Amino acid sequence: MGRRQELEKRQTLLANFGRLVAAESGLDGLLTIIAQELRKILDVDRCSVFLVDPYKGEFWTKVALGMEEKILRMPLGQGVAGFVAKTGSAVSIRDAYRDARFAQDIDRITGYKTRTILAVPLKGRDGQVLGVFEVLNKNRGCFTEEDEGVLRMLATMAASFIENASLYDELRRSYLETIYRMALVAEFRDQQDTGRHLRRMSRVSGILALAVGLGPREAEDIRYASPLHDVGKVAIPDAILRKPDKLSPEEFAEMKRHTVLGGQMLQNAESRLLRLAGRIAIAHHERYDGTGYPYGLKGEEIPLEARIVSVADVFDALVSKRVYKGAWTLPDALAHIQAEAGKHFDPAVVEQLKLHADEIVAAMEEEDHRFSADEQLASRSQTRHI
Ligand code: C2E
Ligand code: SIN
Ligand code: SIN
Ligand code: FE
Repeated sequence: MGRRQELEKRQTLLANFGRLVAAESGLDGLLTIIAQELRKILDVDRCSVFLVDPYKGEFWTKVALGMEEKILRMPLGQGVAGFVAKTGSAVSIRDAYRDARFAQDIDRITGYKTRTILAVPLKGRDGQVLGVFEVLNKNRGCFTEEDEGVLRMLATMAASFIENASLYDELRRSYLETIYRMALVAEFRDQQDTGRHLRRMSRVSGILALAVGLGPREAEDIRYASPLHDVGKVAIPDAILRKPDKLSPEEFAEMKRHTVLGGQMLQNAESRLLRLAGRIAIAHHERYDGTGYPYGLKGEEIPLEARIVSVADVFDALVSKRVYKGAWTLPDALAHIQAEAGKHFDPAVVEQLKLHADEIVAAMEEEDHRFSADEQLASRSQTRHI
């Protein structure tokens, strides 16, 4: 192929590449597409994306195209990719076996014969090395400066995808943690195992939201907003909140204010998720038949998110121990909820609880285990992953 056709072919591939990237939103998918297209554009046998794990001083294969054997983790500095990860400089090699940096043992194990290698660093905004983009064995000839230019261009693109994905992830995680901590503060006086209750009812709310036909994003929002449903309890005096007996009518009237109080705390929030939490907080004790509080809303007048959380909250409250009551068995709790379909609860939500009971109970158990594991890990250092 002449140089002109070669350039034309590259242009076509790059244009095609733009379309593919625009259609993909997950990080793994994006990196795989970049690697696949790069393999075609540069006409190479293998292409891999390595990411650096700065906490462990290692790097690992995020994407490996053309290899049966996936190399999982190596210490920084090992092999050509490790050299690039450590130094942040690009490397082009014409004969791998005559380069001391090349890790020959990998070929020895896989029976592959590496000849040429081109590897460039994936650099973040601050210049730190996030990973390495490596291509092996160009099908004809050696790697040129033009090849290196193409690889660098796509590496820049990949680096920005990686950085955006992890920034987004971190922001989101710290945000969710803030919400979760707010909810804990509100309720820790109330129950010994508040954390457990919140996690479980949050998971169950998310599952029910999906089951009644909401989209994955709405369901996820409900999952993460639901732990705040009782945040208004911060304003309820201990004498009421922690009373081991039945509440007097006056005390219960005071207790009911936690709904409106929670709503007031959240409804003017800037964040969509917090406003959703506010709608849930106000309406989570409304009843489908109109006998609930604070407003006595009926049926569809009650926001769907509150009808969902109400089922999740009561189901979990029933199977949990409280200062004022013992824990119910699962079958008793399920039977109670079913008996209240159309009275306390939206029958459509109860129907989904019944249909998904196994999945829901399994998710609750999983949250219990995660909760216990988190308790143990709480003070240890956090691992960061992309
Ligand atoms: P919670 O303990 O988180 O309970 C939430 C909801 O679960 C209750 O809303 C109720 O609908 C349901 N639930 C919980 N335990 C039982 C039960 O043993 N039987 C039945 N049928 N339903 C149960 P509710 O009643 O509006 O109460 C709201 C909050 O008021 C409760 O939140 C709790 O913090 C407090 N509370 C309610 N009753 C008492 C009580 O007798 N003593 C004390 N100290 N607090 C109470
Ligand atoms: C590889 O075969 O991809 C790793 C070889 C190296 O980077 O030295
Ligand atoms: C969180 O801490 O991730 C929010 C609550 C949950 O769903 O576990
Ligand atoms: Fe409540």
